[in-house]
Amino acid sequence: MPGIAEAPRRILGVGVATLDIINEVAAWPAEDDEVRALAQRISRGGNAANSLVVLSQLGHACAFAGTLASDAQSGLILADLHRAGIATIACVRHPGGSTPTSYVALSRATGSRTIIHYRDLPELRAAELADIDLDPFDWVHFEGRNPAETATMIAACRRQRPGLPISLEIEKPRPGVEALMDGPDVLMFSRAYARANGFRDPEPFLAEQRTRTSASRLILSWGEGGSYGLDGEGGLRHAPSQPPAALVDTLGAGDVLNAAVIDGLLAELPLAEILGRANRLAGYKCGRAGLAGLVAEARGTGWG
Ligand code: FRU
Repeated sequence: MPGIAEAPRRILGVGVATLDIINEVAAWPAEDDEVRALAQRISRGGNAANSLVVLSQLGHACAFAGTLASDAQSGLILADLHRAGIATIACVRHPGGSTPTSYVALSRATGSRTIIHYRDLPELRAAELADIDLDPFDWVHFEGRNPAETATMIAACRRQRPGLPISLEIEKPRPGVEALMDGPDVLMFSRAYARANGFRDPEPFLAEQRTRTSASRLILSWGEGGSYGLDGEGGLRHAPSQPPAALVDTLGAGDVLNAAVIDGLLAELPLAEILGRANRLAGYKCGRAGLAGLVAEARGTGWG
């Protein structure tokens, strides 16, 4: 099914793909408790990979760049990406490492997702991305991680394709991540990052980030507080959250939001409309498990 942009676009996502072992629990346990999972599923995760899956469902042609281990679990990740129609030409295999794994406890009481993440795999190096021809792409999205290498990658993208739009997700506070902020066209922040930097409110956070970047759009997701955006002129937009009747699974909701924002920016919608549309899709996601078939199902309920 086509996206809202006039034609499907080609999007490169650079980041990680993980194995998510998701245990549904009645409620988050106390320390040293022993609880039984009510259900378990294993799926492919990772912020950039999740966003690409949604962008692919939105009709875009997507490719993933990142590292993969050579263990059995990496086969599951590749199979899932291919099932979603995502090209993995830009993936580097590491014979020694193991697939990054997230042990996720999903609370049925609140829908919260608590993640214990283990990784023992080298990150993508700038020299590895340099081999990729960016000519076919209409958009490149980066995860804000591995700052030194990612800074080089962003600069290289700028040199190779000066007009190519670049977005960067800044989800977690990581040493050096701020160095990435001046370069991309779009920055996508999380509430966790804002809070880790001492901000309690979205507006002052965005105002301060604006002094650090030449990005023309700043996006901030604020959970049940909705999402905020600053346009190039500093105009603040807000769209309220759209929670489902019952919270089922919040894992990856931020990645869904980012995908819908990229889709809306590619379609050149007004910022307020982009935020509203993205909140509706992310909210819809929180009312159902996983990402498979998300967009088609949401469209069936009038989203679009
Ligand atoms: C959700 C997610 C999971 C993954 C974790 C990595 O946003 O991408 O799929 O395990 O975050 O930080």
